[in-house]
Amino acid sequence: MTVRIELRGLRKEFKDGTHVGPIDLTIEKGELVTLLGPSGSGKTTTLRMVAGFIQPQSGSLTFNGRDMTNVAPRERGIGMVFQSIALFPNMNVFQNISFGLDMEHWDRTQVTERVEELSRMLGIHGLLYRPISEVSGGEAQRVALARALARKPQVLLLDEPLSSLDPQLRDRLQMEIRKVQRSLGITTLYVTHNQAEAFAVSDKVAVMNDGVIIQTGTPEELYENPNSEFVARFVGSGNVFSGVVEEVRSDSILVRTDSYIFKVSGHRLAGSQVFFTVRPEDVRIELAESGMGAAATVQSVTPQVGSSRVVLDFDGNQVVSVVTDATMTSQLRKNGTSRVWFRFEPELAVLIG
Ligand SMILES: Nc1ncnc2c1ncn2[C@@H]1O[C@H](COP(=O)(O)OP(=O)(O)O)[C@@H](O)[C@H]1O
Ligand SMILES: [Mg+2]
Repeated sequence: MTVRIELRGLRKEFKDGTHVGPIDLTIEKGELVTLLGPSGSGKTTTLRMVAGFIQPQSGSLTFNGRDMTNVAPRERGIGMVFQSIALFPNMNVFQNISFGLDMEHWDRTQVTERVEELSRMLGIHGLLYRPISEVSGGEAQRVALARALARKPQVLLLDEPLSSLDPQLRDRLQMEIRKVQRSLGITTLYVTHNQAEAFAVSDKVAVMNDGVIIQTGTPEELYENPNSEFVARFVGSGNVFSGVVEEVRSDSILVRTDSYIFKVSGHRLAGSQVFFTVRPEDVRIELAESGMGAAATVQSVTPQVGSSRVVLDFDGNQVVSVVTDATMTSQLRKNGTSRVWFRFEPELAVLIG
């Protein structure tokens, strides 16, 4: 049976007055939803309320419509993996994976079958009799995941499971976690402060800040239509501009920033403060002044496959542009911190909120 999880107005207040919530979030059956936010934004507290280790003061938590308030953590059908790998150092890999099954007095042959099945799925079959002290960081996280899945939980909770690993290993393991999660169809709540990781593994991402969810959506939705300056900056779609509406036209507005007036498609009231984003691919650099672009200085030019990433300084803010023209790239690199101009089509700017 798969589980649909609903958090409604879930809120925890600690003794010192710090609080997390109210949190509203739905995780559909078989979905992987990620809580993404900076350190201290309330991700772990939210996950631990779902697990039952932290009791909320208000709001509701249901699994398939059933109220979980008075259900003990062990009875919730949950498997968990933490950032700090809590494996038993004096046991081998097999014993670590089978620990929960032994506690439930599973039959010996069933335990062996289950451990073999999981270890094959996670690529650690060759290590079953190795002491935990002799496995690598990535292997240890696979063991932790196998242990979390051993009792066939209906819900998987992962709190920064890959934060202690180096980037290459993290990339590989995040795809493996996603594959296993999909094939089991297990409803999963994933926590990370890493935007790229969140976007790579998730069906939906809930962006958190200061104890609340700011926006929930698919990675595409968050990237294309951030609802706030915070989300726009945190999901890193690149360039966030702020200014005041100087003039309202039929299908566009003129936005005044410190040193330039940009034309942006859409409508806002004159005099209001607005934010808009422009993707790096849509920012065009010009080496000569045409009267149509904003002046900036070149901060850095980093070669990528088939393009280069150019960071400009515009009034003390960073503006990123992706340049595909090789001649332009070499000129920008040659000229150092020279003055350039940049522009974008008004339709390619996205007003936030
Ligand atoms: N046991 C606790 N007592 C008091 N404050 C806490 C406790 N646990 C967490 N907090 C506070 O709650 C906020 C959210 O913490 P946490 O959920 O751990 O954030 P995250 O996992 O996003 O880093 C922080 O301000 C943190 O200091
Ligand atoms: Mg945390």
